[in-house]
Amino acid sequence: MADAQGGRINFTSKTEESLKGIMTRVLADVSPTDEELALSTAYSNDLVGRLKKAVPRDIKIVAVGSSARGTQLRGSSDLDIFLLFPRRTPRDVLEKKGLEYGKKIVRKGKNESYQVKYAEHPYTKLLLKDIGIAADIVPAYKINGADELGTAVDRTQLHNEFIKSRLSDSQKGDVRVLKAFLKAHGIYGAGARVEGFSGYLCELLICHYGSFTKLLSKSIYMKLPFVIDVLSGKEYHSRDQQVAPYVKKFKSEFIVIDPTDKNRNVAAVVSGEALARFIMASRILLTKPSLDFFYGIKYSDVYSERRVKRISRELDLDIYAITMRTSDVSEEIVVQQLRKLSKRISGALVDKGFSPIMTLEELSGCDAVISFIMDRYRSKSLTIRGPDLHMGHPVGAFFDSHPEALARFFEGGKVIMIEKAEYESPKELLNELIKDKSIYPSCINNKGARLYVNDIPEKYAKLIYSAFIFKTNV
Ligand code: UTP
Ligand code: MN
Repeated sequence: MADAQGGRINFTSKTEESLKGIMTRVLADVSPTDEELALSTAYSNDLVGRLKKAVPRDIKIVAVGSSARGTQLRGSSDLDIFLLFPRRTPRDVLEKKGLEYGKKIVRKGKNESYQVKYAEHPYTKLLLKDIGIAADIVPAYKINGADELGTAVDRTQLHNEFIKSRLSDSQKGDVRVLKAFLKAHGIYGAGARVEGFSGYLCELLICHYGSFTKLLSKSIYMKLPFVIDVLSGKEYHSRDQQVAPYVKKFKSEFIVIDPTDKNRNVAAVVSGEALARFIMASRILLTKPSLDFFYGIKYSDVYSERRVKRISRELDLDIYAITMRTSDVSEEIVVQQLRKLSKRISGALVDKGFSPIMTLEELSGCDAVISFIMDRYRSKSLTIRGPDLHMGHPVGAFFDSHPEALARFFEGGKVIMIEKAEYESPKELLNELIKDKSIYPSCINNKGARLYVNDIPEKYAKLIYSAFIFKTNV
């Protein structure tokens, strides 16, 4: 194990034994049943067969994703099937034909239906109701290496080959255990909402470290920046001089280089919070192995209205909630816009001297809420910290722009000013802000936003309570 500074973990053979036992139990729980595997394999073969008949010979059909690699979790045997077009096919033809072939093989009589989905480019989602399996039929270009990339999903076929040639059966089991562990801690998935570890990243981490326990015991000593080059099997730590060029290239501190494309960081979306959660959870699992750690936190969210009020009382803080409605578009987009709006509002709060201690954003269907947990502010004055003293001109300009100051002085290398507060509490400011239509992004309804303080209607209190429980579970 690396040279950690202090807080080293005593990983005894006893804890190792108990962790092994737990992993065996978890694996039995999260691996698909034989029945599920048989059904999904048969359905995959059936679809591949039907597609082969429906498309010209120069289009290759391949099953990809976790189901094709044996790393899917129980109950998530969704299929990913790619139609690989010759590289010379024009992009618009690929998109049009891709949808056409996907649609062509739907058997409505067999309880099969389909939807057209739009990611980077459109694809068909087949739903087989009888067995509850969905299959994405995705067009892409057939390529031999990342230098031939045409669409964003072309890499998938390369991932497939790499992972299939590198993971042993027992390592596939470890990928499943890792996915279950991350899921339990709310950090599995690379979507905007989670900003965590994708399935492919899990596979690469197991490839690189060899097993789940080795990954965990290394991760707990990780210091950023940190680079894993899966292809060469090397890693670079904060103290290695090789790190800097990677940090510059990928503009990130946690980098896992795609073995099929040296220009891509597979960990690009992993947020600082997700990484910290992973490291914290790994520490606890290694010191006090427990099965509970794989099954998520249990809490009840009935009477959330009361629970939220209790949090406010116990922390002696105010809980503000702005509730609103969103349009019915993809969650990816709504999540991003909600965070943007939240940043805008918290920026305005900070400007007026009210800094949120914690910010929560949550949504369910078309209901969204942004919540700020704040000190119980009430002051008739506002303290403003101006520019650094050594900046000269801006200091003068700052003085000029606040002629009404009640007091001004220099402290901590900055100019400070106290003036009469425009808003005595965040409530007045927020009530004014939410009426300003210009602050709302396009998919958030600019009418009907409401502000509540501590007394929050049950429907929204539920969202705030679950977000709070998740966030503070560290
Ligand atoms: P999935 O999102 O279905 O992931 O993408 P998965 O690996 O099958 O994992 P689970 O078990 O469903 O959660 C299918 C494949 O598409 C590629 C990856 O190779 C992935 O394995 N992919 C997916 C990307 O290249 N980029 C993405 O953003 C998403
Ligand atoms: Mn998948």
